[in-house]
Amino acid sequence: MADTPTSTLDPADIESHSFDVVVIGAGGAGLRAAIEAKSRGLATALVCKSLLGKAHTVMAEGGAAAAMGNIWPEDNWKVHFRDTMRGGKMLNNWRMAELHAKESPDRIYELEAWGALFDRTKDGRILQRDFGGHRYARLAHVGDRTGLELIRTLQQRAVSMGIEVFMECKILRLLKDSEGRVSGAVGYWRPTGEPVTFKAKAIVVATGGVGRSWKYTTNSWESTGDGQALALWAGADLIDMECLQFHPTGMVWPLSVRGILVTEGVRGDGGVLRNSEGRRFMFDYIPPMFAAETADSEAEADRWYEDHLNNRRPPELLPRDEVARSINSEVKAGRGSPHGGVLLDIASRRSAEYIRRRLPSMYHQFKELAGVDITVEPMEVGPTCHYMMGGIRVDAETEATTVPGLFSAGEVAAGLHGANRLGGNSLSDLLVFGRRAGIGASDFAEGFTGEPSVDPRDVLEAISEADAPFLRDPGESPYDIQHDLQESMQALVGIIRTGSELEQALEEIGKLRERATKVSVQGGRGYNPGWNLATDLPAMLTVSMAVTRGAIERRESRGGHTRDDFPNPDPEMGKVNFVQRLVDGEHLVVPEPLPEMPDELKALLEEEAH
Ligand code: FUM
Repeated sequence: MADTPTSTLDPADIESHSFDVVVIGAGGAGLRAAIEAKSRGLATALVCKSLLGKAHTVMAEGGAAAAMGNIWPEDNWKVHFRDTMRGGKMLNNWRMAELHAKESPDRIYELEAWGALFDRTKDGRILQRDFGGHRYARLAHVGDRTGLELIRTLQQRAVSMGIEVFMECKILRLLKDSEGRVSGAVGYWRPTGEPVTFKAKAIVVATGGVGRSWKYTTNSWESTGDGQALALWAGADLIDMECLQFHPTGMVWPLSVRGILVTEGVRGDGGVLRNSEGRRFMFDYIPPMFAAETADSEAEADRWYEDHLNNRRPPELLPRDEVARSINSEVKAGRGSPHGGVLLDIASRRSAEYIRRRLPSMYHQFKELAGVDITVEPMEVGPTCHYMMGGIRVDAETEATTVPGLFSAGEVAAGLHGANRLGGNSLSDLLVFGRRAGIGASDFAEGFTGEPSVDPRDVLEAISEADAPFLRDPGESPYDIQHDLQESMQALVGIIRTGSELEQALEEIGKLRERATKVSVQGGRGYNPGWNLATDLPAMLTVSMAVTRGAIERRESRGGHTRDDFPNPDPEMGKVNFVQRLVDGEHLVVPEPLPEMPDELKALLEEEAH
């Protein structure tokens, strides 16, 4: 139908597929879920907007956290559980944190059995690296390319199992049957613009994050919040959307590459942060909660890298929210680097051979993109939008959302990380909960009798809405709207927030939503980036609104969410998730109590704290 208006389409002519389980999103979580469903013998499809293998998973470079105890036999799931809860400022779903800590080691060994080539200890075990907020060296890694190795391994397995992969397919809307179950999805092929529908007994949404609505981000073009928006529009709950992570170290110069990730592995392997005066400023920002276990002098911090025996870690390895805020404060106080960041120095602390072996991607990235040799010079770094802790509300055991037939895992789902994710916990998250979502969706599909049905009117509505920009001329440019959204979100809903700026953001997003109804695009439907962006905008605007609404309601500072006008955590707010849902077209934000933690886990947290 290349250039015919979709309003004249006959639903019977639309390409259609039917599966037991359809997984939307082919990053680590989606791949792992699909592998599980396929291994149960179910007809399984994997649908992704980009090419297979290209996902934000690769941006978890430094490693996958799992308490295997290969370096420190003292490590175990209890310590990992405690670190995750404390890093998340106790907003985490305790059961997800418990399952994650217990199951991560098995998922890593499974990955190894499937062919992942992890770095090794001298005696041949999987090597583990230090990262912020983890008490012990806990990250299984492959240099600084761990996410890539994980994707490569899962992809190989998925393809060899015969999972059907539908690449370059943008999903516009989830479809439901007359009983309110999710029963399919409608989208279009990016290469041709032709529409396509998928019917399914169960769907897993694993589409990743939202970072493209901010100006400086580690996220690639795919991360436009599609899954969060699809789920919300389908009636699912989102929680804690205000909890967004700014990774402390992104590139700041040259401007063309600002935001690209500089792995926490640099600090894990001995890199230190300095301000323009050459001072290791992180010693000035150790929060009371971490004081007992954080070194308070350079000598002590440096000794830790040699023997770890004093157990007081360098302040550069505090959780990400603490480090990002500290960098922000230094820059604001006029002690930043020439281009508005701070200096990350590993050159003066490790040999060139060590740096090139442990951090090959960082070495090449700075050399190629900034003309900086990190074996001899420091890197200029600053906070960059990296990861969404909030997202689709799921059941901890099955990853079922609040809509029957819909499951979710990975960054798009919420709960495990609370208000701040520890580095390395995302790769193990997507393995643990990707698998569980695959099981949950398979159980649901197996229990479903009959064939999934979709309403053709819903299909046509979604297609003609996507098609509308072709019929407007003149109109708004999708690029202008995206640009203005990114500027607003960066300036008004960034790392430090205030009530008045958040209200202003809400107003700006309202105006952008209005402008988005007038978007116009030219050309054909095949590989039309303007049109592709126009179809991403509804999700970007919905999710930006959700983050801003949540940030207004959470009148406290907790983890990645910092309010200048409410600088402290509020114990009462720490007991609630802010739940967002659409009811009769109205977007509600309501506090709901966190699930109660059993006494034995509470006791464990206290015990560990001592
Ligand atoms: O810094 C990093 O390598 C990122 C890891 C993560 O987000 O888990």
